[in-house]
Amino acid sequence: MTTKQFQKLILQGIPDKLPQPKPFDASLNHAPKRKDILSAEEKKLAVRNALRYFPKKFHFVLAKEFADELKTLGRIYMYRFRPDYKIYARPINEYPHTCKQAAAIMHMLSNNLDYAVAQHPHELITYGGNGAVFQNWAQYLLTMKYLSEMTDEQTLVMYSGHPLGLFPSHKDAPRVVVTNGMMIPNYSKQDDWEKFNALGVTQYGQMTAGSFMYIGPQGIVHGTTITILNAKRMYVRNQKSEIRSQNKTSNIKHQTSNLLFVSSGLGGMSGAQAKAAVIAGAIAVIAEVNPKATHTRHSQGWVDEVFFDLDKLITRVEIARNKKEAVSLAYQGNIVDLWEKFAKKNVRVELGSDQTSLHNPYAGGYYPAGISFEDANKMMTENPVQFKKEVQKSLVRQVNAINKLTEKGMYFFDYGNAFLLEAGRAGADVAPPPPKGGIKKETERTFRYPSYVQDIMGPMCFDFGFGPFRWVCTSANPKDLDTTDKIATKVLEAIYKKSPKEIKQQLVDNIRWIKEAQKNKLVVGSQARILYADAEGRIKIAKAFNDAIKAKKISAPVVIGRDHHDVSGTDSPFRETSNIYDGSQFTADMAVQNFVGDSFRGATWISLHNGGGVGWGEVINGGFGMALDGTNASERRLKAMLFWDVNNGIARRSWARNKGAMHTALRTMKKEKKMKITMPTTVEDSLLEKLF
Ligand SMILES: NC(=O)c1ccc[n+]([C@@H]2O[C@H](COP(=O)([O-])OP(=O)(O)OC[C@H]3O[C@@H](n4cnc5c(N)ncnc54)[C@H](O)[C@@H]3O)[C@@H](O)[C@H]2O)c1
Repeated sequence: MTTKQFQKLILQGIPDKLPQPKPFDASLNHAPKRKDILSAEEKKLAVRNALRYFPKKFHFVLAKEFADELKTLGRIYMYRFRPDYKIYARPINEYPHTCKQAAAIMHMLSNNLDYAVAQHPHELITYGGNGAVFQNWAQYLLTMKYLSEMTDEQTLVMYSGHPLGLFPSHKDAPRVVVTNGMMIPNYSKQDDWEKFNALGVTQYGQMTAGSFMYIGPQGIVHGTTITILNAKRMYVRNQKSEIRSQNKTSNIKHQTSNLLFVSSGLGGMSGAQAKAAVIAGAIAVIAEVNPKATHTRHSQGWVDEVFFDLDKLITRVEIARNKKEAVSLAYQGNIVDLWEKFAKKNVRVELGSDQTSLHNPYAGGYYPAGISFEDANKMMTENPVQFKKEVQKSLVRQVNAINKLTEKGMYFFDYGNAFLLEAGRAGADVAPPPPKGGIKKETERTFRYPSYVQDIMGPMCFDFGFGPFRWVCTSANPKDLDTTDKIATKVLEAIYKKSPKEIKQQLVDNIRWIKEAQKNKLVVGSQARILYADAEGRIKIAKAFNDAIKAKKISAPVVIGRDHHDVSGTDSPFRETSNIYDGSQFTADMAVQNFVGDSFRGATWISLHNGGGVGWGEVINGGFGMALDGTNASERRLKAMLFWDVNNGIARRSWARNKGAMHTALRTMKKEKKMKITMPTTVEDSLLEKLF
């Protein structure tokens, strides 16, 4: 298809003539059949809702077809309207447009649906099993049409994938405002998502799926590399303090070199663990129950070797230890069997985690032990009550085995997949030990193990403003990406020279990352890059990009953004804000304020989501995208918005008495006189102990 034909189809939106039905493509990865949750009357409502996108002349054919989709898949995707052209991040000028910012959004949105990038492209799901860009193909067609027509004095309003329409606004307003899964709080349980999503009135946008900000596996490889690097440091510190407390003179080096990291999941995000562990210099053993997922990661080279036999796997681990190899080994099977075997055989494991999709425990996110993959898939739809029992039994077994290994020194952390939350709900032994001396400290944990944010990302990164700054070159030209890599490296190196000791490690890790980014070949889909930077780093890098666009050293606009795994954008008590201990971790003011604040400081688009990583009802997160086009207006917007986008969270984390954030807040106020942050006063513990 030529670019002209493609443009014509975008401008057409919903076609006048009913397209031919599309055959089901079994070669692709499809979303699982969803729960049959609607009553007969509600099913009629779902079809009625779906038909409102189409002229009456289509209704006779579509009513039956949509009812069939609902019966067989539990959702109405409107497959027939899936376009015939290839969806991918095309060079920005190939999108028909009146407004450049809207074309940049089309570039980003298309990347989320690219077959090479999306998890279930025909169901418009980008990642995480249910992270949707749209609920159906009519929404896609209409949105693309609106974006191609919009001027820079209009704003497109989107309710959970549904384009409500174009509204008059102004040049500095966001071009698109997205909300996903915003519910009346009492209607935010897992089954509410099943029901209202099946009705076609809401969706789970995860975060970068519904924010049009997904950049393929690179984001998660980077985040996981930083996590494992810091987990290794944490393990070393724990070992040293253990040895010190026991007055031992043991050989620390022997215990900390060539670490073994054990976890589960080789799926969309979890698949990064194997590659990241090797980049971080560890031995990775990852269990994966789905043979397709194992095959994908193995064929990509992200997993070095696959094992079906646990004894052989253990022998291979010993060889890797002896040879001091950094290597990734997959176990094709259930993680519970692996943990139990490792515990029984006393395998020394230094780092442990889990990355099954426990944000979605009973609908395909977690496969219970003792049941084949195929039987589990059947049971979850045919006998959901029994399936739930099996999942819970399995989680209890998993925790028992993990507990045995942590008693022998393994450092275990929850990886933001709701593992401890669901294991606790299942009755597993994840309660924290009683506090020392019977006195509960403010920072006492909810669970026996920390979340990776409590121990690692929170105190080491987020509290200092470090988070996932990402960018995409809309020219789709790798040369532009290369230029941006060089610019970012230069900026970070200059910042490093004058940085305080508290943030030097983060800068070093990220300078190393960006220098090696090309070598690691992580670009899949759009020409994108990610690194962790604080407010100063993000602003300086973005300004340097804008200058380079102005000077024509970069050939087209660069979109900047981030994911939810950040300082300010997300309120998630068991993940991003799990290192907040003043009680406010169960509030969502920060995420909502962030979304609103970004909108009037110049974001090109903004998004607010219920869900995202840990599950529907468990988190509120917001995101943004900003198209830099080399103009003075871009410079003004990037400075205003990025400053807020990081420092909102710094101020909140500082108010929660987080030491790193208090340090950063004071440092920032010294530099920016217009900022006045309310600082907390700390109280002596002894004063409180006598009160109640
Ligand atoms: N910490 C982070 O930075 C971060 C980032 C993204 C996602 N997450 C969370 O991690 C989880 C995984 O995300 P994903 O995108 O990889 O999801 P996914 O569903 O694509 O992958 C999970 C994998 O786990 C496998 N699995 C399930 N039960 C298993 C078992 N008992 N034994 C072995 N394998 C099993 C599944 O087959 C699947 O391939 C989600 O809950 C997500 O929200 C965390």
